[in-house]
Order: sequence, then C-alpha cells, then structure tokens
Amino acid sequence: MFNRRTALASLAGAASLALTASACGQSSVRSSEGTSVGGTVGVAMPTRSSDRWLTDGRSIVKDLKGNGYKAKLVYGDDNPKAQVSQIENLIKQRVDALIIAAIDAKSLNGVLQEAAAAHIPVISYDRLILGTKNVDYYVSFDNEMVGRMQASHIIKKLGLEDGKGPFNIELFAGSPDDNNTKYFFDGAMARLQPFLDSKQLVVPSGQTKLSRITTLRWDGPTAEKRMSGILATWYRSKKVDAVLSPYDGISRGVLSALKSDGYGSGSGLPVITGQDAEPASVKSIIAGQQSETVYKDVRELAGAAAEMVDDILKDRRPRVNNRRDYNNGVKNVPAYLLQPQSLDETNYDVLIRDGYYTADQLK
Ligand code: GAL
Repeated sequence: MFNRRTALASLAGAASLALTASACGQSSVRSSEGTSVGGTVGVAMPTRSSDRWLTDGRSIVKDLKGNGYKAKLVYGDDNPKAQVSQIENLIKQRVDALIIAAIDAKSLNGVLQEAAAAHIPVISYDRLILGTKNVDYYVSFDNEMVGRMQASHIIKKLGLEDGKGPFNIELFAGSPDDNNTKYFFDGAMARLQPFLDSKQLVVPSGQTKLSRITTLRWDGPTAEKRMSGILATWYRSKKVDAVLSPYDGISRGVLSALKSDGYGSGSGLPVITGQDAEPASVKSIIAGQQSETVYKDVRELAGAAAEMVDDILKDRRPRVNNRRDYNNGVKNVPAYLLQPQSLDETNYDVLIRDGYYTADQLK
C-alpha cells in the first residue's frame, strides 16, 4: 500500500533535529535530512453515520502516525456549518495540513481562505471541494467508473445486451451538495441511456433528471420515503425490475420500501445496486436481496492522502495521475485516483481475502 515511507519516518528519531520553515511557511521540526517528526494534520470527515467514514478516519490517523505525524480527527455529523467551525478550530490550533471530506462541496470557500492565509495546504479527500482556489490536491476513486459499474451490473442482470426488455427501472442519486453525486450519475447514465432510448428500459415515474432524484445527505430514510411514494403512485399494476442506487445506505432504504410493498415475498426483488461494501449491504447481497455494491478500499485512499501530506510537508511533489479532469470551478485540481471494484454474490469474498472484513463480520 502507501507506507513506503514509514521506514524513513521511523529513522527520523535517530537523526539530529533542526528547526526549519516548511514548504508552506509553517514552522515545523525537521531532521537534518528534512524528515518531519513533529507535524500535526487536521482531518475533517463528514459523518459517523456510515461505516466507511469510520474506516477512513481510523486509517488516515494510523497512516499519518506511521509517517511520524500527529492527527486531529473531527467528524462534522452531516452538518455543513459544524464542519466549517471544526475546520476553523483546526486552523486556530495551527495544524500543518488539512485533509477534508466536505459535507457541502461549496461551503468551504471562507474557511479555506483562512487556511491559505495561515499557509496550510489542503487535500480534498474523496469529494472535490468546489469554488475555491485554496485546495491543493484531490485524492479519490474514479467516481464515474463507480456509476458505470453500477449500470453495467443492471445491464448484465437484465440481459439488455441480449435485447431483452422492456424493464421498469427507477433512478436514485446521492446528495445534491456532494460533487461525487454528478460523477456517479453521469457514469451510470452514459451506460443506461442507450437502453432508455431503445425503450428496453422504462422509468414509469418519469423521474430521470438529476435534480429530481437526489437524496439529501445520502439519507436512507429519505430514499425509502421517495421509493414508497413512487410505488404507491406509479406501480399499482406494474413491477419494478431494477433500481439504480449510488450508495448502500440508499439501497437499504429502497429495499425497505420494496419489502413494505410486498416485494421479496414471492414476487422477487428488483436488481438493486449500491456502493461502499458496507457490512449490512454485503450481508444483504449474501442473502440475495441487494444485488451489487461497489467496493472502494478506503484504507488505500487514506494511505494515498497520508502520503500526499508527507510529500507536501517535505517539499516533494505528490504523486498524481490526473491533472486535467477535476476542475472545481476555479482551477484544475491535481488528482490522484484509485480504482473501484464491482462486487456481487459471485465475488464478495474478495473483502475477506483483502482483510477488509473478517468472515465473522459478514455473518
Ligand atoms: C460519497 C462517497 C461514497 C459514499 C457517499 C455517502 O461522497 O464517495 O462512497 O460514501 O458519499 O457517504
């Protein structure tokens, strides 16, 4: 993974120390070889309500520590204003760098101006921060690919490429204030649109525009309510064959609406996608209910972010693999992207092989 510098960092203790100014003007303790042993990194995560973000937070802290840093980890509990004040606090505490997964992509302009004034570099973690020049790097997964994978699963399961259909599908998207929502949706629609055009896929509710299908804060109960409404209004004499869902929490909300409507007992369940390989959803896949999820090993994402911080604070050029495609409205943010993986009942055991979960956690 991304711990190639752990050994270097641990050598730092033996090296002689000198006080120098860091790349960003902050003063920090460095060894004569330039190895930082005293930096503190502020880590602002969006929510504790989903397993993945707990893993992200834990892993980032572990990797930062492994590289010789201290970490201050905060969770914004899905409240954009609370996140802004948490970041303000971290700036006041004079952290050397910030790793931020934004709750509202556009709400950080003011606070990031404060970070820039204090010469604190900022890494946009998983979600691209929009509308500010004060974001230095972006680290995430290929999010359009996530959407493509979800759509590909639906296409395969329904046999659309063999000309089957017409099938009824309903579309769900993520939070409107999260920039990833658009990537997931665009990726999925790039694959699904030809089958909507050929009428092999039909959306009985007619709700196909992104603005009509978002789910504020990725909230499962919000999705459940929308699905129940759709079933009551548009499916009195029809059956849902597939639901595009961008995230496991939403998928479970959709499933719960379907079950309340009588699906799953005799009439079978539609194909339902998801993302994050959350334990509850993997168990649901094993039980033959949710049919797919997209696994993103966030331990790798955390490692990449920790390595970026280390590079920035040691005046090295961080590793990036995309400089062109992630424009945040003000600038192209240099990005490092990892690859997601689609999982269903045939290959979910990769989670156990990777040590992401133990077999017991999925029982
Ligand atoms: C997105 C993220 C997804 C999922 C979702 C809800 O930004 O990329 O993996 O976690 O938030 O938390």
